[in-house]
Amino acid sequence: MQTISTIAELRSQIRAARMAGKRIGFVPTMGNLHEGHISLVTEAHKHADLVVASIFVNPLQFGENEDLDNYPKTLENDQAMLSANDCHLLFAPTVKEMYPDGKGIETLVEVPALSNTHCGASRPGHFRGVSTVVTKLFGIVQPDVAVFGQKDFQQLAVIRRMTEDLSLGVKIVGVPTARNEFGLALSSRNGYLSDEQLHTAINLSKTLNWAKDEIISGNRNYSGIQDSANQRLQDAGFKPDYFTVCEQKDLTPASDKDNKIVILAAAYMGPARLIDNLAFKIN
Ligand code: PAF
Repeated sequence: MQTISTIAELRSQIRAARMAGKRIGFVPTMGNLHEGHISLVTEAHKHADLVVASIFVNPLQFGENEDLDNYPKTLENDQAMLSANDCHLLFAPTVKEMYPDGKGIETLVEVPALSNTHCGASRPGHFRGVSTVVTKLFGIVQPDVAVFGQKDFQQLAVIRRMTEDLSLGVKIVGVPTARNEFGLALSSRNGYLSDEQLHTAINLSKTLNWAKDEIISGNRNYSGIQDSANQRLQDAGFKPDYFTVCEQKDLTPASDKDNKIVILAAAYMGPARLIDNLAFKIN
């Protein structure tokens, strides 16, 4: 695997691959890779001949008091993992390469309706930062297919909508959330937790499963379910941010007429803000 840090060099490699008739698969990441990211690389191989990953901790998607400066950087380990999983090219640019004028750029991409609720309400500007950098990365890599984790369900919805609205011509593939043996969703932010907090954090997925079981067994009192879920999270030691039963496409609160449901949740465990979700259909 070759690691490339400039846009010009990556473009020239991609051009050569295209001339050779190769399909390009793309896995954008912020590094500190775990098995969840590797499942994205594995999926990309199913759709493409050349798999490109990127590692870029994008300042545009972090708020003032968030963990940009402390975001874990583990490039050597990430390179070894990608290489062991047959990734062909790693694009790892500096901030200056991506944003020559400093922190950001003049042109911003935004999908307001999907971006301002749930995580977007707690992290203003976050999804604008994500949509902007993903549009820029798509412009650089020009992939046929790009693969994202379903753990970031709202992010995936924003990227799907943006790709469709702007006719970016990239097929977006979502991959189910990778979990540890106890059901905890894998996340780089789990690294901020002590062993005890990690153990307690399992209650986020347990609470989602409890809520799903309630709904599957016929309970349509979604606000009651949300209240009980928040109480369960609090009792387990979380500081809940939101826990909302939504309709899958627009991520608006579900009514009893909706049958494609996603429960979205975010909660603080000590220093880490953890997110998780469960998507399912009801009859
Ligand atoms: O999910 C992530 O790691 C990031 O939000 C992404 C998509 C790489 C954009 O910076």
